[in-house]
Amino acid sequence: MKILHKSAVSSKDMTKQEEIKQLKLEKDAVLLAHYYVPAQVQEIADYVGDSFYLSKVASKLTNKVLVFCGVSFMGESGKLLNPDKAVLMPDASADCPMAHMVTKEEIDDVRARYEDLAVVCYINSTAEIKSWSDVCVTSANAVQIVKKLPNQNILFIPDKNLGRYVAEQVPEKNVMLVKGYCPVHEEMKVKEIQELKQLHPLAEVLAHPECNASVLSIADYIGSTTGILKQAAASNAKEFIIATEIGVRYELEKQNPKKTFYFPKTEPVCMDMKKITLDGILHVLRTGENGAAVASNIAEPSKATLNRMLELAA
Ligand code: 13P
Ligand code: SF4
Repeated sequence: MKILHKSAVSSKDMTKQEEIKQLKLEKDAVLLAHYYVPAQVQEIADYVGDSFYLSKVASKLTNKVLVFCGVSFMGESGKLLNPDKAVLMPDASADCPMAHMVTKEEIDDVRARYEDLAVVCYINSTAEIKSWSDVCVTSANAVQIVKKLPNQNILFIPDKNLGRYVAEQVPEKNVMLVKGYCPVHEEMKVKEIQELKQLHPLAEVLAHPECNASVLSIADYIGSTTGILKQAAASNAKEFIIATEIGVRYELEKQNPKKTFYFPKTEPVCMDMKKITLDGILHVLRTGENGAAVASNIAEPSKATLNRMLELAA
């Protein structure tokens, strides 16, 4: 059999996955992916996880290039933690609408009224919003961090649903909210979860805290994407109703081949996460385009907000 030198094999002859693997080696690149991106992207990623896991991994990597398969706040956070590395976004237009849902005026107004205020900012926020805040959280550590803070008065931004959930778990503090929300989780219909519950009465309902109050009120378990995965693996139940974005189905089924997972019939799909494709990854690996960037005047304060989360959640 004739053995071809690597360079004699044209990119057309390789599958997209194989070409990505080769480019990763050539460029010293690593792929980080959120559970909500398409399955074929999760399949090829080096690290797949929820927002907290991805930020912890990003703070420790030594590779020259990080490809962040997710939405822009994830790439920005990756860049803040790795200012000297190239952090590439497979689709520069993939953005989280909730990441913009608070204004400086709203924050300043509450700061003026409470001397000991801590502004706690969900990681799903722009770097600029992080720069106005005191500490960042994700859905995996928000309760733990708000409990640990010395402050009695907390302004939780921008997600009103996660904020309300935190307020319920930490009743000893005064937790104030703004009006932001994740459209995918906010619009989930409790009626569709109840219908599934009627069809599968033994199924456990596992919900993300970004869901609206009526969905969370009938959940058996509330937690981050990773929390939902851990609960599904640990539980003795054989069937689960999942109230979060549909992308998590891939990892749920991979980890639990004998269990069944039902999602609401109006499938919760984050169209921005679905913009991440193998073609997009190939493009940024080949060209180095779509580098995440954070303006120099906000880089320091927003990095401090992120680092405070990493310290408090350790
Ligand atoms: P987690 O990754 O913290 O579960 O949050 C889900 C989400 O909506 C990410 O955009
Ligand atoms: Fe933003 Fe919701 Fe999409 Fe997550 S699922 S990126 S919170 S819109």
